[in-house]
Amino acid sequence: MHPDTADSPFIRACHRLPVPHTPVWYMRQAGRSLPEYRALRADVPMLEACATPDLIVEITMQPVRRYGVDAAIFFSDIVVPLKAIGVDLDIKPGVGPVVDTPIRDEAALRVLRPLTPDDVPYVTEAVQSLVKELGPTPLIGFAGAPFTLASYLIEGGPSKNHDHTKAMMYGEPALWHALMERLTVITLSYLRLQAEAGASALQLFDSWVGAVAPADYREFVLPYTSRLFAGLADLNVPRIHFGVGTGELLGLLGEAGADVVGVDWRVPLDEAARRVGPGKALQGNLDPAVLLAPWDVAERRARDVLARGRAAEGHVFNLGHGVLPTTDPDQLARLTGLIHETAV
Ligand code: CP3
Repeated sequence: MHPDTADSPFIRACHRLPVPHTPVWYMRQAGRSLPEYRALRADVPMLEACATPDLIVEITMQPVRRYGVDAAIFFSDIVVPLKAIGVDLDIKPGVGPVVDTPIRDEAALRVLRPLTPDDVPYVTEAVQSLVKELGPTPLIGFAGAPFTLASYLIEGGPSKNHDHTKAMMYGEPALWHALMERLTVITLSYLRLQAEAGASALQLFDSWVGAVAPADYREFVLPYTSRLFAGLADLNVPRIHFGVGTGELLGLLGEAGADVVGVDWRVPLDEAARRVGPGKALQGNLDPAVLLAPWDVAERRARDVLARGRAAEGHVFNLGHGVLPTTDPDQLARLTGLIHETAV
C-alpha cells in the first residue's frame, strides 16, 4: 500500500474521519461506457483481459485519468477466482457469467477447492503495478460474496428469481451450508491476497442477496459474511459490503462487520444511516439511470444524495449500482466535479 493513501479522502471517509471533500468513485467506472475501454477490449475476451496484467492496469487506470475519481477499482470480475481454481465458466457479452455444469449436488462441490496465490499470479502482479502507478490514490480490491457466487454456480448463469439457489437453500440446507463454506474459504483467500499485494480497501459484492428475507439472511448467509469480515480485520484496510435491493437487510449488513455499507438508490441515505446503525460509513447511492437524464436533473438528485449523506458518520459518494453502458462519460465527469466542489 502506498503510504499516502491513508490520508486520502476515500480512506478517511471509510474510517469516518473528517474529509476536505466527499470522496467519489463509481461501480463499473472501468467498462463499456468508456470508448477507450471498448477499444482495448475489441479483440480480447473478458476473462482473457482479466488474466493479463498490462490490460488490467491500463483499464483500471482509464477512469482515474479521465474523471480524477478518489479511488480505483481493480479491473476484474467476481468469477475470476472460480475460473482460476478450475470451474468451467465464461463471461458472455451482454449476458454475464455462465457456468458449463451448474453445481447442484455434493459431488459437484469438489471443484471448489481452496485458492492459493499461485492460482492468480496475474492478480498479484497487476495489484503491485497499480499501487506504484496510482501513488496516493487508493486501489479497491474486491470479490463476489458467497451468496452471489452461489447463485451463478447453482443457476448456471444470471437469474431473475434464483429458483434453484433458493430450492437448495430451503430444501437441502446441509448441501447449501457446505457450498457456502467452500465459497467463504475461497473468497477470504482471494481478498486477503489482494490486500497483501497492496490494495488499500476491499469491497465484497453481494449483488443479488436482496432476494433473501431477513430471517433467511440471518440463517443462511450471515454466518459466512460475518466470518469473511472477521477474517479480514487484521489487515487494517476498510471493508465495504455492497448489495442491491437490500433495504430490509441494511441492519444485518451492518451486523456482518464491514466498516462501510453500500446502499442502492431505493433507500435514502439518511434513512439508511438509521437502519444500518452507528459506527459505520455509508457508500452510495445515486440511481445510475439518473445519469441518462439531462445534467440539471442529475445535478439536483446528486445534491440531494450529498445532503442526505451528511446524516451518515462517513460518506463515500457512489452510484446505487454499476454505471450503465449507455452513460455519457461527460455526465460522470460533471458529476465528479460537482461532488468535489460541494462543501462538506
Ligand atoms: O469498474 C469496475 O467496476 C470494473 C470491475 C468489475 C467488473 N465486474 C467488470 C466487468 C467489477 C467490480 C465487477 C463485479 C461484478 N461482476 C459483479 C458485482 C457488481 C455488480 O454489478 O453488482 C457482478 C454481479 C458481476 C457479474 C457480471 N460480470 C455481470 C453481471 C456482467 C455484465 C454482463 C453484461 O455484459 O451486461 C459481467 C461482465 C463484466 N464485468 C463487464 C465488466 C466491465 C462487461 C464485460 C464486457 O466488456 O463485455
